[in-house]
Amino acid sequence: MTSPRRTFAIISHPDAGKTTLTEKLLYFGGAIHLAGEVKARGQNRRARSDWMKIEQQRGISVTSSVMTFESGGITFNLLDTPGHEDFSEDTYRTLTAVDSAIMVIDAARGIEAQTRKLFEVCRLRSVPIITFVNKVDREGRPTFELLDEIADMLALDVSPMTWPVGMGGTFEGILNLSTNQIARPEGDSRTFQGKTEAAPMLPDAVAEEIELAQAGYAAFDAEAYRNGDLTPVYFGSALKDFGPADLIAALSDYAPPPRPQPAEPAPVDPQEKEVTGFVFKVQANMDPQHRDRIAFMRLCSGTFKRGMKLTPTGHGKPIAVHSPILFFAQNREVADEAYPGDIIGIPNHGTLRVGDTLSEKADVRFTGLPNFAPEILRRVVLKDFTKTKQLRKALDDMAEEGVTQVFYPEIGSNWIIGVVGQLQLEVLLSRLDAEYKVAAGLEPAPFDTARWISAEDPAELKNFTDLNRAAMAKDRDGNPVFLAKSAWEVGYVQDRYPKVKFAATRER
Ligand code: G4P
Repeated sequence: MTSPRRTFAIISHPDAGKTTLTEKLLYFGGAIHLAGEVKARGQNRRARSDWMKIEQQRGISVTSSVMTFESGGITFNLLDTPGHEDFSEDTYRTLTAVDSAIMVIDAARGIEAQTRKLFEVCRLRSVPIITFVNKVDREGRPTFELLDEIADMLALDVSPMTWPVGMGGTFEGILNLSTNQIARPEGDSRTFQGKTEAAPMLPDAVAEEIELAQAGYAAFDAEAYRNGDLTPVYFGSALKDFGPADLIAALSDYAPPPRPQPAEPAPVDPQEKEVTGFVFKVQANMDPQHRDRIAFMRLCSGTFKRGMKLTPTGHGKPIAVHSPILFFAQNREVADEAYPGDIIGIPNHGTLRVGDTLSEKADVRFTGLPNFAPEILRRVVLKDFTKTKQLRKALDDMAEEGVTQVFYPEIGSNWIIGVVGQLQLEVLLSRLDAEYKVAAGLEPAPFDTARWISAEDPAELKNFTDLNRAAMAKDRDGNPVFLAKSAWEVGYVQDRYPKVKFAATRER
């Protein structure tokens, strides 16, 4: 028997405390022994590649990775998502590979823009969410206000599981509402060092608050949580060690084990014997000396064994996976076996792409890994025309990784790239230069957004494309794309061509 799996991600707005919480989960999960290792590891990794200079300059993390730890007989796979707002597309894809998520909120700021966007992605896939209200060691907003905001903005039932006894200067601990035990701060650092007290005396105001809360909010219901209709809410301070252990317990007790995954012809149950999985991320050039890439595959069913042959659906021959990588917090190990819910890294030379299904028999295809309509389009201008071939390869590579999208217009020779955030433009230029030795610039494109188009009747599609040739392009996979000058224009053509479908996301 293998241990149960919990495959999850942390979603948050930058600065809410995701890095700190990640580190503390690994620490309390027994995976690391010194605080600060997550960052140190990040810096080592950053030193490896030139284009990551941007990360260093801006102090952000562009790449995402996987951290595995074991606690209480359960194997946790924590999928790290890039925190910067600009890298949301990569983050969205990572969320397709988890079974649940922890949403971190800053007690002084409540729900912020990025939290909300990521939450919407979780909701699309009914990913259940545990909420962590962080930084109660500082002055925050009133507890009721925070709970009501979560409930109203996210249209979810909230169920407080713990309660902060004071915040900031008056912070006296975290009360567990089901055990009635309080975790107390200790020493000059006011950290949690294991001191708990049963049935504590609480200030009257707090006792009253708790009574009101228990009457006013939904009682925790595991079924409603797993359906994505209710979120249990924990309060704490990642920095001061309040909360991480509660969250590990919550994941163990309530979070779903690997779930059936949406696929064609039918959803794939983790119990099925045949090994299947999908690639949700490809990271190229992790080592500038080698042109290798790592494809991150989520295993959906079967027991994976090293050396096994897996076939990418739709293209390619079976590949033998001789050196799959498992990701532990402190090192990478070659995996001999992996189970549903696990993430394995598969080194390859560009054969594997984001969205690929891998399976033993190749008669299944996972669905629902989205491409998002880019919000920024730019024309790529070469400074040296002898480099056209290299440029095309670079743009295709990066589109394949899902970092940027590329569109080849039907008319004219100016290739257009699309991104969902400004910073990706800098990453693109920097990588073109460092990895492909291509000097290029970007110019404004006469378009503002893109839509993938389709129609049930091929004649309708042809009619539309013939009449709009100047705005037609193909994406990297040859799918027809309509480039629009504005969101208004999208609405306009939609009204005029009701039989053509304009999609802002494209499933791969
Ligand atoms: P992020 O990954 O979500 O962007 O957030 P990160 O953990 O880096 O935390 C952002 C800032 O908030 C950091 O401070 C961090 O120390 C602080 N922080 C995180 N959790 C808590 C908490 O529970 N209480 C308090 N008071 N602060 C918290 P910084 O000064 O920006 O960075 P650093 O130099 O201290 O690392």
